[in-house]
Amino acid sequence: MKQCVKMIVGNWKMNGLASGLSEARAVSEALTAEPAAATVGLCPPTTLLDRMARALDGGPVQVGGQDCHAEASGAFTGSVSAAMLADAGARLVILGHSERRAGCGETDADVAAKVGAALQAGLEPIVCVGETLAEHEAGEAVAVVTRQIEGSLPEIPAGKDLAVAYEPVWAIGSGLTPTSDQIAEVHAAIRAALSRRLGEAATAVPILYGGSVNPANAADLLTIDGVDGALVGGASLKAEDFMAIIRAAGPGVAADAQG
Ligand code: PGA
Repeated sequence: MKQCVKMIVGNWKMNGLASGLSEARAVSEALTAEPAAATVGLCPPTTLLDRMARALDGGPVQVGGQDCHAEASGAFTGSVSAAMLADAGARLVILGHSERRAGCGETDADVAAKVGAALQAGLEPIVCVGETLAEHEAGEAVAVVTRQIEGSLPEIPAGKDLAVAYEPVWAIGSGLTPTSDQIAEVHAAIRAALSRRLGEAATAVPILYGGSVNPANAADLLTIDGVDGALVGGASLKAEDFMAIIRAAGPGVAADAQG
């Protein structure tokens, strides 16, 4: 099985003005000075995407969007297409975040259409899935997440990069996290659903955990079986906290020693 390099991605949500770009620069500089054992991404609000991509150009931090429209262009006031994100310098895009599924009524089919658009535009989608508190308490996490994976992925052409993030809705921004066993169980179910869907190619899809990841719990979360990285909200806004989470993935390989 292909060994996935850990992937740590920050989701700034609707936070960040131009003054916040210094935090992104600080992350890039720290990783340049001392590489990490992870690929690292930051997803700022769309207004900062172009400036952040320029500021971090050529460095170790990839930049991404937080959503995109399923259509390439057209009369969709207020929306941004995948091609526009890529044009602004994005390499990644978070899709199907629970704040969009719940807050904007996005269905699995909507998410699948967006994933298709993102792949078409050359972006790597990070597809989010996760159960609500009521579903968690009813013991339905595996069933819900499996259904979301099955419904949220379009036909994936060979050779396209894709990531999945397991984000229990009740763990986001709450300071709560599932037990290690619960996380391992859901990640295994996601891996199985991806294998049924993508065959051998599924082994190359990193499955991130997200929901209240912070400097204090990152090392434990990142060593859980089947956890290939983290999607980090609040703790990605400050370079110091985000770097502590990245460092929890382990020491990196000096750039000149990489093959
Ligand atoms: P949080 O958010 O780390 O602030 O809980 C994670 C997310 O929503 O991606």
